[in-house]
Amino acid sequence: MAPGRRGALGAAAGDGDAPVSSSGNGGVGGTPLAPAPGEMAATVARVRSLVQRHSERFERSIPLIASENLLSPYAKELLISDFHSRYAEGLPGERYYEGNEQVDQVETLCLELARRLFRCSFADVRPTSGTVANLAVLKALTETGDLVGTSRLADGAHISSASFGAFGLRGVKPVYYAWDEERMTIDVARTREILRAVRPKLCLFGLSLFLFPMPIDELRPTLEEIGARGWYDGAHVAGLIAGGEFQDPLHEGCVVMSASTHKTLPGPQHGILLGQTDDPEVVKKLQGGAFPGVTSNHHLNAMAALAVSLAEHLEFGREYARRTVENAHALAQALHDRGFDVLGADLGFTRSHTIAVRVEREGGGEAVARKLADAGIVANKNLLPGDKSPKRPGGIRLGSPEVTRVGMGPKEMERVAELFDALLHRGRPTEEVVRDAAELKRGFTTLKYCFAAGEAAYRYYDLVGRPPA
Ligand SMILES: Cc1ncc(COP(=O)(O)O)c(C=O)c1O
Repeated sequence: MAPGRRGALGAAAGDGDAPVSSSGNGGVGGTPLAPAPGEMAATVARVRSLVQRHSERFERSIPLIASENLLSPYAKELLISDFHSRYAEGLPGERYYEGNEQVDQVETLCLELARRLFRCSFADVRPTSGTVANLAVLKALTETGDLVGTSRLADGAHISSASFGAFGLRGVKPVYYAWDEERMTIDVARTREILRAVRPKLCLFGLSLFLFPMPIDELRPTLEEIGARGWYDGAHVAGLIAGGEFQDPLHEGCVVMSASTHKTLPGPQHGILLGQTDDPEVVKKLQGGAFPGVTSNHHLNAMAALAVSLAEHLEFGREYARRTVENAHALAQALHDRGFDVLGADLGFTRSHTIAVRVEREGGGEAVARKLADAGIVANKNLLPGDKSPKRPGGIRLGSPEVTRVGMGPKEMERVAELFDALLHRGRPTEEVVRDAAELKRGFTTLKYCFAAGEAAYRYYDLVGRPPA
């Protein structure tokens, strides 16, 4: 590297007499591996400051990503506990490592809380995310080449069902349900025909754009007729199910539910398997799917944080879930009243935390999501049923989990819709909407629906108290 050239991380590398490489250390792409004095301390400082800036930005923003939420202080604290540093392969009481006595007690508690919250007979808290939980189910209940029923991505399914996602990895073939665009759910009559004709082994219900419950009850007789098992992906709606505000798939005939634990269930980034089955063979397969199927260690710090989040949801989840759905509905109505094309107007827009808005008139999903983000409103572009190209999503997806968590209600949803209208219909300059959004958010920056409610929601915890040197 030529003296004076800057390293990829922005700090001076290889300046003056500083050693450019040691012991034949040539580096990658021209950047020396041996850092210049102070370079890595500056890099650590830079990472911290970027994350701090991110937190400050979210504190001022209106966060409307349907899959995001905020962690409670007691759960957050466990993420940096010593559990983070440990391994505990296996199940409580049957570990491969020593030193797991407290881990075992916490995991046992976590499993009890999960079964109680979801009113079911089986739980496994070892999947490290929703996708990993899906892989565990596929590993447990399918073989390569099996047919598995699911929805299409364009109808709101998660990439887990795609050939380039978990389905493809396991080598199973999707059998797509027919979709009723008017009712925005599975077309039961046509799907019955498909299932009878193709006879998949497993049927997955669950979406990433999840507005209305799935007709599992109605399809159950067909599943029984063809001998298929029902599987529910509750990544998005787990917190609503637990709070009694959405369908209860494990009591409608699904043998297993996989989920993320950080969307409407406001826990740590993690995954979970839940089941309602007396069949020890199925339980064994699901446990084997989780470990050693798709995990080795299961992020014990997140598992402990999950135990806290499950306990908090047992205490506060019913009210939180009710208000989350109420806010989604209020936002949909307020946008509809201002001329936005909110899907499902004849059906009450949504029964969940999510709403979908077709924004072709406003410039299309990509342009609108960007414009909103520039104005301090965080949402995502989304493919909607009927979109011509997967590359040009015609809509945006909005969710109420986080705004509800910081205490906003229907009145604030009206104000959020006013910001949308001002920015996207009335030409109010972006800088002014940024100010309005921050002003609205100012009163809603602390956590609700958890112990230690009132703690700052976007606080950056500076553990060391001095910059790296
Ligand atoms: C329906 C569905 N399943 C699974 C996942 C994956 O969850 P994770 O991000 O926890 O892997 C998502 C993510 O948004 C989802 O929407």
